[in-house]
Amino acid sequence: MKKYKTIFIFTTIILAMLFTRCQQPTVKSSDTDQKVDSLLALMTTEEKIGQMTLFTSDWDVTGPTMRLGYKEDIKNGKVGAIFNAFGVKYLRELQQLAVENTRLNIPLLFGYDVIHGYKTIFPLPIAQACSWDLGMIEKSDRIAAIEASAEGLHWTFAPMIDIARDPRWGRICEGSGEDTYLGSLIGAARVKGFQGDDLKDNSTLVACAKHYAAYGAAQAGRDYNTVDISDRTLREIYLPPFKATVDAGVGTFMTAFNEVDGVPATGNKYLLRDILKGEWGFAGFVVTDYTSIMEMELHGIVANEKEAGELALNAGVDMDMQSAIYSDYTLKSLEEGKVTMAEIDDAVRRVLKIKYELGLFDDPYKYCDEERERTLVMHQDHLDFAHEFAAKSMVLLKNENNTLPLSKNTKNIAVIGPLADSKVDMLGSWSAAGDYAKCVTLLEGVKQKLPSAKVLHAKGCEVLGSDKSGFAEALSVARRSDAVILAIGETRDLSGEANSRSNINIPGVQEELVAELLKLGKPVVVVLMNGRPLDLTWLNEQAPAILETWFLGTKAGDALADVIFGDYNPSGKLTVSFPRNVGQIPLFYNHKNTGRPITDVKWTSKYLDVPNTPLFPFGYGLSYTSFEYSGLSLSKNSITKNETFTVSVDVKNTGKFAGEEVVQLYIRDLVGSVTRPVLELKGFEKISLDPGQTKTVQFEISENDLKFLDINMDYLAEAGEFEVFVGTNSQETQSAKFSIVE
Ligand code: NOJ
Repeated sequence: MKKYKTIFIFTTIILAMLFTRCQQPTVKSSDTDQKVDSLLALMTTEEKIGQMTLFTSDWDVTGPTMRLGYKEDIKNGKVGAIFNAFGVKYLRELQQLAVENTRLNIPLLFGYDVIHGYKTIFPLPIAQACSWDLGMIEKSDRIAAIEASAEGLHWTFAPMIDIARDPRWGRICEGSGEDTYLGSLIGAARVKGFQGDDLKDNSTLVACAKHYAAYGAAQAGRDYNTVDISDRTLREIYLPPFKATVDAGVGTFMTAFNEVDGVPATGNKYLLRDILKGEWGFAGFVVTDYTSIMEMELHGIVANEKEAGELALNAGVDMDMQSAIYSDYTLKSLEEGKVTMAEIDDAVRRVLKIKYELGLFDDPYKYCDEERERTLVMHQDHLDFAHEFAAKSMVLLKNENNTLPLSKNTKNIAVIGPLADSKVDMLGSWSAAGDYAKCVTLLEGVKQKLPSAKVLHAKGCEVLGSDKSGFAEALSVARRSDAVILAIGETRDLSGEANSRSNINIPGVQEELVAELLKLGKPVVVVLMNGRPLDLTWLNEQAPAILETWFLGTKAGDALADVIFGDYNPSGKLTVSFPRNVGQIPLFYNHKNTGRPITDVKWTSKYLDVPNTPLFPFGYGLSYTSFEYSGLSLSKNSITKNETFTVSVDVKNTGKFAGEEVVQLYIRDLVGSVTRPVLELKGFEKISLDPGQTKTVQFEISENDLKFLDINMDYLAEAGEFEVFVGTNSQETQSAKFSIVE
């Protein structure tokens, strides 16, 4: 390794000296830029194209194609980055192939989908968002980076920051939900978590903001489907989280599969060169999603693969994931003048810069440290954090007659349902290198929490299918118990990529199982495990207690037992609306008013068969205690554009448990040069209160919070009247008016 390093540095210096002698000295913006330019000057076009190419290993596929012969590609300098392989031993081997066989010894970059933990798996991203705890979100990604980097990885394909307003879309579970403001804060927190303070630190990963852009707006919630939205909606709803990650210093971006306004995101100059690299000044590199350059032929925007590569490169795509199109055609495209050397150089410069920033040129094996791998992966501290975070991510949807928490003195407990003891489902989708065998299930968690209780278990039924033959056993177990905990929902592979559903019901015969168990008259707690908002209308009418847990990761069962038996008081709030039925979709809190907002009058905007409101609104979540809001006051009722004012509210814990509350602040601009949403989240604070305790929560409002894209697409605040709302969710609020005066 040392020998390699010395030869590489020596050769580079000599060649760089020779090169710089024949060139005019130029002003370099940084030391890294200088190194990159010196190396770039030594590279052949083929070597450059190699750096613009990313291939999967043959370990796993996360898309429709597999690359055979990738090791030969590495040796031949045809690939600059590899994904879907991990572990120090194997990645060292692959790195050796690159640095010992290629002419310029340029190290490989190793990427992987580290989405919500690496081996220690944290709650699904949508569940994490429900904690409204930016510090914990950032910490979970810090830990994920520590573990993944200890196994030789450099680069994660996260954060996924697609705003999603359609629960049919299986990937709604990967993001933070429907809100742009919250999604932007979470995106930035995740970048900080993964990348830390300095990429040179070998406990960091380069982050990748994905999927750029508007992937979550797929028509009818069908994955990979067409996106057709206005520029205003694109810029106001879907782009801000991406901009937030650029501001947070994200190293890479991934393009989306979908088209936007007739142009696939992977060939979209407007998105990539004009907005991302132009307006926002993004200095990292852009990678495509899996074979998305190749897919542009099927989109029908190019006639063949070569043209697809040209469109992508012209548009600003720096690295081709898995299509092998840059690899196969870019040389020819260059000869024909369809792409320029300046475009190629810009792409390669961006890729090399990240490799320098990671310190891979100083030591290509710096992430290959067996000692770190042995001691850091699934470290007890990480598991403890996973436990705590899982508890904070649950949302209590219903708790009639204080069914929850169950008493720890309960002698006989039935733990029923197809998900009650399913280790693999606890991982959720995109579980990286997560080891399902190490997951704690609900059943295990309950047994562990109450070692002297009699805990009986029956599956009752599967998640899918119509088989009710297990009902009898489930009923028998329930009859012999004092309380029933019932885990139902979706298996982990009913959400995630390529897992859209046209129906968002609770699948199979699970609701029938609930109905049968409820007939016994015992306390029944329904624990939902799922990757999308489900239609809970029937369940909400029938079941006394419902806990939304999404998929909680490695320590799911421990956290569930804490909440169910009152060792942790649930504090999560929904970050996505739960519709009453699939026909209401898309349904989101920050909708427009329309010219005929709903009233009792026939000719207003509504359905005949269902209210306009969701079953559970954005920001909703119960606690074992209760909170009372009072005394909403504004320090000023009118401001000029450069003034600020403070909104204050008193929040009192009026119940018997200590608890946490997410105090939410929304704004409505009553009259604009374009219509504005009826509510927009603009602030929140999570507070802890002991029983009887009151806290005053204050939010400062400035012109910045009131800006939007006006009729001329200028981002500004307009003078006029506004309403501010503060409350426990987006529907239960107190409000006051204020105005901006010229
Ligand atoms: C396809 C997915 O859309 C993307 O999110 C993921 O990062 C890549 N495959 C790589 O696995």
